[in-house]
Amino acid sequence: MDRYLVFGHPVRHSKSPFIHTLFARQTQQALEYGLAEPVPAEFETSLRAFFAEGGKGCNVTVPFKEQAFALVDRLSPRARRAGAVNTIKLTDDGVLLGDNTDGAGLVADLKSHGVALTGSRILLLGAGGAARGCLAPLLAEGPSELVIANRTQAKAARLAEEFQDLGAIQAVAYEALQGPFDLVINSTSASLQGDLPPLSPALIHGDTAIYDMMYGATDTPFIAWAKSHGARLTMDGLGMLVEQAAEAFTVWRGLRPGTKQVLRELKRNLGIL
Ligand code: ATR
Repeated sequence: MDRYLVFGHPVRHSKSPFIHTLFARQTQQALEYGLAEPVPAEFETSLRAFFAEGGKGCNVTVPFKEQAFALVDRLSPRARRAGAVNTIKLTDDGVLLGDNTDGAGLVADLKSHGVALTGSRILLLGAGGAARGCLAPLLAEGPSELVIANRTQAKAARLAEEFQDLGAIQAVAYEALQGPFDLVINSTSASLQGDLPPLSPALIHGDTAIYDMMYGATDTPFIAWAKSHGARLTMDGLGMLVEQAAEAFTVWRGLRPGTKQVLRELKRNLGIL
């Protein structure tokens, strides 16, 4: 049977095996999908051993996405732009192809919720790896403006500079932001500490779409903040998780699984429904 893995550390709680097993059942593909948790110093050895032993492809998650970017034989244009690899495919001619499906997953999830991106004013909070990965796919949708705000302003400024050629993008300090925005995306890891970037309620109104790349059994601090200021459409990163997986599955198997039912089953599995 064709074998796939997700590499991460820690990775025990990853939902990728659950999601890909459902995709495989749905599309009647014979494959198995497991977990690998090498210590960081052994990531490359472990990845090469997996492919030498017949592995067909893998996902790569924290903290290995940049290492994966450096060690694949070839990069897709979107992985090159993201500076990180979350999906690797062994091609028929033995080449390790590095791709990045995170940004496409975010855009697919936004669209599945009916969020208009073309011509919209988007605010992206954070300037780390998660922000970088979604910039090219977001700019490809043609927003009227994409503003990045980050605690460390220099990082936001560097990203805006780097993606200048792809559209109207600028970095603005948190305290200088001018709302309202049509869409606000939180890519910061602030909620991991139960924290929230310093946001003024004037940045949003009832029709602002709110997206947090994080998720949990209860509202993240960012989603709770937005709801308390009247936001009617709030989304967490669970949809993005399923959509980036569907995109990876498509890269490997050449066919696209449906995501709606899988997302429902994942929520049930997590005790959210
Ligand atoms: P990831 O790969 O998930 O993006 P990262 O590269 O470590 O992780 O980036 C984390 C992001 O969350 C950064 O933009 C970080 O801001 P700094 O660049 O100033 O460090 C942001 N972040 C983390 N904790 C935060 C907090 N408590 N308030 C605001 N921003 C925070």
